[in-house]
Amino acid sequence: MATQDSNLTSSDKLPCHIAIIMDGNGRWAKKRFLPRIAGHRAGMESVRSTVRCCLEKGIKTLTLFAFSSENWRRPAEEVNLLMSLFMTALDKEVLKLHKNGVQLKIAGDLSAFSEELQQRIANAEALTKDNIDLTLIIAANYGGRWDIVQATQKVAHLVGQGVLNPDAITEEEIHRHLVLSDLPEPDLFIRTGGEQRISNFLLWQLAYTELYFTDELWPDFDASSFDNALLSFASRQRRFGRTGEQVEDKKNA
Ligand code: IPE
Ligand code: IPE
Ligand code: MG
Repeated sequence: MATQDSNLTSSDKLPCHIAIIMDGNGRWAKKRFLPRIAGHRAGMESVRSTVRCCLEKGIKTLTLFAFSSENWRRPAEEVNLLMSLFMTALDKEVLKLHKNGVQLKIAGDLSAFSEELQQRIANAEALTKDNIDLTLIIAANYGGRWDIVQATQKVAHLVGQGVLNPDAITEEEIHRHLVLSDLPEPDLFIRTGGEQRISNFLLWQLAYTELYFTDELWPDFDASSFDNALLSFASRQRRFGRTGEQVEDKKNA
């Protein structure tokens, strides 16, 4: 008999929001004597599969780390190829996402992108803005520290204008200005590729997220890999500072 913990149909054991660092594309390609960009292309299939899994299971929010603020340090050729892959993906995938009820959002400092890319991002967001089955956030030129800094600047402006009293700066006030402020915080964080670090992803938002690391390289991450991550999540007790007994009592109340 399946235990309660492994019952993935039990919605209280499913994360509402999953955030993923899709890592290992370069090593996947290297193992096959292919150029790194071939790994990034192969990783697109894992993106499609993960989006499908979320839609099938009714997981409402998925955030994917596509390009970090530190990834500009890579060779110009790889950065350029990643940008054109991003552009092609926007062109090729947006209609499909729209038909499947996916709302697409791009989170990050978009001002560094070409005008053309910024325009395509705006078009894709406008087209899909009323969809409600899944919110898919692509973190691009995103950094957790950048996010906190830009929120702090907005708060500082409000103080400067006399609209906000410094004593009224609360966690909620800062949270309100972060890029994902309208979404629930991630319940489950997944990082593929074997590294066990956050790499300046959602620093504020991951405060109470369950962390899951796997050695699988992102292009190898398929529906069964996704299920393994969900099983691990379902087996955990989220205490948020309380005792295990308090959490059990609340569940049985
Ligand atoms: C993640 O894969 C994708 C991006 C950072 C864009 P990597 O390109 O970091 O792959 P590895 O870590 O070199 O294998
Ligand atoms: C993190 O991966 C960023 C993305 C997946 C987009 P990296 O592969 O760039 O991370 P580090 O630099 O090795 O930590
Ligand atoms: Mg990497």
